[in-house]
Amino acid sequence: MSALAGKTVALAVTGSIAAYKAVEVARLCIKAGAKVLPLMTASAQRFVGPLTLAGITGEAVATDMWDPSFSGEMHVSIAARADVIVIVPATADLLARLAQGRADDLVTATVLCARGPVLAAPAMHPRMWGHPATRKNVEELAAQGRVKLVGPVEGVVASGESGMGRMAEPAVIVEAIEGALRAGTGTSRDLVGRRIVVTAGPTHEAIDPVRYLGNRSSGRMGFAIAARAVARGASVTLIAGPVGLATPDGITRVDVESAAEMQRAVDEAMGRDLGNADALVMAAAVADFRAAHASDTKIKKDGEALAIALAKNPDILAAIGARRTGKRPVLVGFALETGDDALVLAYAKAKVAAKKVDFVIANAAHESLGHATNRVAFVSSGGEAMPFATGTKEDIADRILGEIAERLGTG
Ligand code: CTP
Repeated sequence: MSALAGKTVALAVTGSIAAYKAVEVARLCIKAGAKVLPLMTASAQRFVGPLTLAGITGEAVATDMWDPSFSGEMHVSIAARADVIVIVPATADLLARLAQGRADDLVTATVLCARGPVLAAPAMHPRMWGHPATRKNVEELAAQGRVKLVGPVEGVVASGESGMGRMAEPAVIVEAIEGALRAGTGTSRDLVGRRIVVTAGPTHEAIDPVRYLGNRSSGRMGFAIAARAVARGASVTLIAGPVGLATPDGITRVDVESAAEMQRAVDEAMGRDLGNADALVMAAAVADFRAAHASDTKIKKDGEALAIALAKNPDILAAIGARRTGKRPVLVGFALETGDDALVLAYAKAKVAAKKVDFVIANAAHESLGHATNRVAFVSSGGEAMPFATGTKEDIADRILGEIAERLGTG
């Protein structure tokens, strides 16, 4: 049975050409057994007639916070009735107003009053999506964690141009609504009794007592995976490189500095025959090289140049992949790359095979490092890739854990 059955969805439509697709979202929600309460901003009504939405949903379309025929406060009433609020499409202007917590029309006021999950499906020209102001608003919404974005995706937009900004397809939006409702009812405790080891952050490789080689990983992705795994019922060991992040509740945390230390901690957590864990997620950005001979004393700037010989670090994930004999533990890697989508995917595919893992999450460095959101594609050992999709690191963590739960036969 769909998680939408018997639920009430407040469907808010804002002014973008993709507004016509909101009608399909309404239809799919109703087909799944939900009641849909339609809301429209003034500009949305320029794109789709309220009569269409009223006809599909069998409900009057709410458009005006100040409707004199309505007794009570309309935004409070709709928010109280709705199990979930979904904004399809969400314009750049709406994202800005949501990020600021504005309540100057029915849609934003209702969102501010929401008692359940809120989802928004952005749709706009790629230049608007890429604008620093929109980027900042998306980051702000991700940090607040109250409005989850579904999409946008790369593709052709209304102007005929291509890029990131096309609205996610109605079926994908409806799937996300179902996911939000399931998570909200706490039914996704699908990892109870499972032991998951997660690595996070960079490693620091000493050059001398005061200097190190490192990278820009913040550790947020790995920490999000650990936190969501605990929420879904797993026992979690989080092996963290040097990061400035607080330990999520209910987690066993092991702090390490170097790749060698991380490997020891991973080996210990996994056990001799890898039997101590059901899954390993290597979200850490392990340094590939270390100083071949770290100096015991601080290196002095005697010469005009300094050459430091580097030695290759062990590949922690590949070593575990080589030792695994059956299907357990489930092994997950990350591929953080630079380059276009095709190149990122090609590298990820090579990593799945080389490291003998179940799947790799491919992402581009400029969209991941230091951001609250990320755009990722899943590449599995069968060679198939799920298309790139954008989400908060928590959303991506949940997708990864969903894949793990499925492979462990409980999802
Ligand atoms: N990894 C690891 N040990 C290493 C390096 C990487 O376990 N010494 C893991 C990472 O945690 C990640 C995956 O392997 O899950 C991919 O890491 P990445 O550094 O992107 O891949 P490499 O195999 O090092 O390839 P590249 O040559 O692109 O750096």
